[in-house]
Amino acid sequence: MTDKLTPAKIRRNLSGERVSLIGGAGFIGHNLAIGLRQAGAEIQVVDNLMQNNLTTNVIDQNLDPFRRELNHGFLIQRFEMMRDAGIKLDNADARSMIDLPEVLRDFDPTKLVHLSAISSAVDAKHVPGHCFDLQLVTLRNVLEFTRLFPNSVNQLVLMSSSTVYGDFKTPTVDENTRPRPYGIYANAKYMAERLARTYNDQYGLGLTIIRPSALYGERCISRRVSQVFIENALMGKPLLLEGSGNGRLDFTYIYDLVDGIVRSMAVDREPESSITFNMTCGNARTIAELAGIVKSVIPTAICEERPRNKIKPVRGALSTKRASETLNFRPQWPLEIGYKRYCEWYVEQWERTQRVVFAN
Ligand SMILES: NC(=O)c1ccc[n+]([C@@H]2O[C@H](COP(=O)([O-])OP(=O)(O)OC[C@H]3O[C@@H](n4cnc5c(N)ncnc54)[C@H](O)[C@@H]3O)[C@@H](O)[C@H]2O)c1
Repeated sequence: MTDKLTPAKIRRNLSGERVSLIGGAGFIGHNLAIGLRQAGAEIQVVDNLMQNNLTTNVIDQNLDPFRRELNHGFLIQRFEMMRDAGIKLDNADARSMIDLPEVLRDFDPTKLVHLSAISSAVDAKHVPGHCFDLQLVTLRNVLEFTRLFPNSVNQLVLMSSSTVYGDFKTPTVDENTRPRPYGIYANAKYMAERLARTYNDQYGLGLTIIRPSALYGERCISRRVSQVFIENALMGKPLLLEGSGNGRLDFTYIYDLVDGIVRSMAVDREPESSITFNMTCGNARTIAELAGIVKSVIPTAICEERPRNKIKPVRGALSTKRASETLNFRPQWPLEIGYKRYCEWYVEQWERTQRVVFAN
């Protein structure tokens, strides 16, 4: 099956599919929407632009004018790219049992991708009820839509997370490793997986669960370590290396994730099947290595060592063997190439924003 999943076959299998992405104007969502569109599917993005998006960027009192302008530039690029690709955007709140089915019925999707969430475990910890709503209430509405209109949707793709594994007990985890989530974000992700599997089991919903990790890439505004390091280097602030920077993460370039998800939606599968994929670069790299790449692009960057923060989770690599065997998934972007390219893009965007802000 795998060797036959060629670009031509992906295109053939996806043309005619109508994909709705719930929370699709976010970092992963807009990149995936464009990837699926390029592969021939019709796309609807459903997003209320509320979280980590246009609304927060305008109203957040803690943002300085420079960052607001930088984020604004990234967000506008997302919308222009989606518009130019012919992607339909519906501004609707997926928590609403009325609004979500209405926009979905209007588009009549054959596949759904659930992405809405507070996508940071740190932020989610401060607002657990809100985390619950954005992940699980929105998921309830998506699942109920598939149950009430069973003939139209042939697959739900659920964006879970590598955090469901909790502290890694071994250097590498695969999909059979027992999840040990802790904290509200990871537990809500794991609950989401269990609920979606229940709809697969009880109501025959075709299901694909994706577990990504530590993504980086163009137009992200989430300020994960891969973004903070570049910004600190540009501002002359130190890149903080806790415990000598020997903590490891499976850093993944967004384009590898998009390629894997597109494959998981194009592959031939039994209609009522359920499968879970780790979808990462498949290689854990140290924070010190990440800093080294920043330094190669911004030579003035300085690193500072700090004691290891013991409450930070112990992570490692995710095995991508299943995705490799089932989907012919082959990550194309090792950190040295993907992250370097992203750093260079970021420097350009930073300088462009400086020209805009300091000209006024
Ligand atoms: N980025 C990563 O490194 C990463 C890693 C693992 C898992 N994930 C998961 O992938 C998914 C997408 O992540 P992301 O990085 O694109 O996040 P993001 O914050 O960029 O995007 C989330 C989008 O969901 C939208 N949204 C939130 N609540 C909504 C609602 N009620 N109705 C409609 N839209 C709503 C937001 O407006 C936002 O555009 C999340 O579920 C996240 O937990 C992300």
